[in-house]
Amino acid sequence: MNKNLVGQFPNLRLRRLRQTPAMRSLVRETRLNADQLVLPLFARSGKRLRRPVMSMPGVFQLSLDELIKEASSAATAGVKAVLVFGIPDFKDEKASGAYAHNGIVQQAVRSLKREFPALMVITDVCLCEYMSHGHCGIVRKNSQGVSILNDPTLKLLARSAVSHAEAGADMVAPSDMMDGRVREIRNALDKEGFQGVPIMSYAAKFASGFYGPFRDVAESAPKFGDRRSYQMDVGNGLEALREVALDIAEGADIVMVKPALAYLDLIYRIKTEFGYPTAAYAVSGEYSMIKAAGLNGWIDERAVMLESHMAMKRAGADIIITYAAREIAEWLKET
Ligand code: PBG
Repeated sequence: MNKNLVGQFPNLRLRRLRQTPAMRSLVRETRLNADQLVLPLFARSGKRLRRPVMSMPGVFQLSLDELIKEASSAATAGVKAVLVFGIPDFKDEKASGAYAHNGIVQQAVRSLKREFPALMVITDVCLCEYMSHGHCGIVRKNSQGVSILNDPTLKLLARSAVSHAEAGADMVAPSDMMDGRVREIRNALDKEGFQGVPIMSYAAKFASGFYGPFRDVAESAPKFGDRRSYQMDVGNGLEALREVALDIAEGADIVMVKPALAYLDLIYRIKTEFGYPTAAYAVSGEYSMIKAAGLNGWIDERAVMLESHMAMKRAGADIIITYAAREIAEWLKET
């Protein structure tokens, strides 16, 4: 576009284009689309269990029967994909629950695919929910303090991804931020015959305060220390581009920016720089802030929810992972 706009369009009156709803819709550049939304779901054991989470109104830990109901109403609204997280019955120091054949995510994937073969089932690949200490990797404690062992962790992540694919997952999404995990997972999937299973990598994932409510739902808050040795520093934009470049080189099919709203500049830069399918994760804190303000009557929840998701698309996101997926899909039908 010619950047010197002043005086270029003497006859243009933008007001004419904004006159009526039909006209506004005709010239709208960006649209929200239900089939580009992904709904996160939290599976746990039990029956008829729908456990609410204080910090995330409208989000529940669900037993498998309830998970099916939730997926069903999302699908009816037009949502085509879900992202499954698991809350295991027990945790240990090698995250056994993450790659157990009958782990909670593996069971959830099997029942979701059985009930809804056409629903795209994506799994979160990470160890934090399954580790007694809540970190995303294997932890070594010594006199210098605590460190996360990157390379031994890769093996467990790859095992988890393969076990999800065996259960029928359509795509895996590693969120751990260990170095080299995309390649390790790609190799393991290929070796086991899952060449067709794509990887959506949480490529630029920041050490963010916005994950607080998620850690309540997923029961995955670290018991000591924090995630700053493996998640990105909030001030770093170029590092995000390097993270994305590495993940693409290692075989990622879709790259993700997380959180979304506070990182629109990076969604834009990453999409422009790499031209790769780009996902944005509208994380728990973003969702809960809008919900809370909406419940208090301080903002119009629906308007703000739609506006912020529209902003993510305008910035360049092809896919949005969001706790509001079902509601947004329903609102889009009404408009
Ligand atoms: C697991 C994981 C987290 C989120 C997604 N996968 C939490 C974390 O890194 O602590 C956060 C999602 C959200 O806040 O909605 N590593």
